[in-house]
Amino acid sequence: MTHQHATDQNATDQFVIVGGGLAGATAAQTLREEGFAGPILLIGAEPHRPYERPPLSKGYLTGGADRESVFVHPADWYRDHDVTLLTGVRVTAIDRSARAVVTADGTQLRYTKLLLATGSTARPLPAPGADLENVLTLRTMADADRLAPHLVPDAHVVVIGGGWIGLEVAAAARQRGARVTVVETATLPLQRVLGREVAQFFADLHVANGVQLLTGRSVRELRGNGRVESVELTDGTVLRADLVVVGIGVWPTVDLALAAGLAVRDGVMTDASLRTSDPDIFAAGDIAEFEHPRLGRTLRVEHWANARDSAAVAARAMLGQPAVHDAMPYFYTDQYDLGMEYRGHVEPGGYDQVVFRGPNGLVDGKTPETVVFWTQQARVLAAMNVNSWDDGPALERLVQAGHAGRQVDLDRLADPTVPLDALLDPVPDRG
Ligand code: NAI
Repeated sequence: MTHQHATDQNATDQFVIVGGGLAGATAAQTLREEGFAGPILLIGAEPHRPYERPPLSKGYLTGGADRESVFVHPADWYRDHDVTLLTGVRVTAIDRSARAVVTADGTQLRYTKLLLATGSTARPLPAPGADLENVLTLRTMADADRLAPHLVPDAHVVVIGGGWIGLEVAAAARQRGARVTVVETATLPLQRVLGREVAQFFADLHVANGVQLLTGRSVRELRGNGRVESVELTDGTVLRADLVVVGIGVWPTVDLALAAGLAVRDGVMTDASLRTSDPDIFAAGDIAEFEHPRLGRTLRVEHWANARDSAAVAARAMLGQPAVHDAMPYFYTDQYDLGMEYRGHVEPGGYDQVVFRGPNGLVDGKTPETVVFWTQQARVLAAMNVNSWDDGPALERLVQAGHAGRQVDLDRLADPTVPLDALLDPVPDRG
């Protein structure tokens, strides 16, 4: 680890990236790809070099993906690309007037342009007993390393929160033979993001795979003697627990930005180029609340693709290029025999129809191939392909067209014999 660039006041432009996750690593890569030759400092608080988080709640937990496979770049990439990677270093302040960041040991690192890519922090469970041993959250590689050994046959695993973390961990735990209960406050898991119809699909999937799903309730107390032994729910149910996994959402890590006086609402406010209220400071990934040019609103997205895409745009904008982050939100999941991709954006309750192009639920307890569309006045706002992988580009075009105001025929949308692209063809003149 070296601070050589930072102390050299005669150096050329120095770009500093705070946050050693996928967004930070992608920004460093894009800066080099775009020809930036000056010093790049990539600072991460975790002890590891940047890694991808999706495998942590999937293959990495079940042992299918090894540690090396989850890193964004090989270890020597940073040296080969002259990127100074500082791991295990926490930035504690941004001094905007000195144009420097300050690390925990008081070191000042000056920047010409600064990118904040500090990601999210797991929300702790607000219940007595949450500090007992074997009550874990899953956000980092260290979290996954702590969690994985507990997923063993017949272990009693209680998952609090039926969101993406909760459901992916539940599937991994079932795959390892554990007995799994998922506790979710809402009526259905994933209801806020997917709506009732598709949330029911996921609920059925988990029940079919042996999960006890307890919805409409939460946790009153965790009990145990040092280590967690049981979970009492708000309806009085008591569950035996060898392990409790808490997946009740995350907070964007915006404290640095707030303390520096940047505009922060739900996240760090940026324009479509990821530029914050300070023109020399950019934000990417989970923390960025950016103006989405296609959606005509601000958006903050806590998914893998957004970390990568927004960071690439931010890096180009840091170089003065006219880049905008206009990708449609995208995410995917793998749970049991279900793999899906989701594209688009729908506000909770912001659709009037859910159209299935294929089965609308499990078939004989198995996940079929199907595609789901969320529409509003016949405009496709979001699409989800389940166990089918060829339609991505066509679905992207439909969703983009939908957000641009284009309507489609819903009967044809539901008909698998009509090619997806034909739905956007001009309506034939029958006169
Ligand atoms: P989440 O926001 O997806 O889900 C949290 C769930 O916990 C919600 O269903 C909520 O109703 C429930 N909940 C909140 N408080 C509760 C309580 N006290 N008791 C019971 N249930 C409660 O957050 P999650 O699952 O923690 O994931 C963290 C972040 O990681 C999210 O931003 C998510 O998008 C991301 N992620 C994305 C994945 C993907 O794209 N496949 C996979 C895993 C995580």
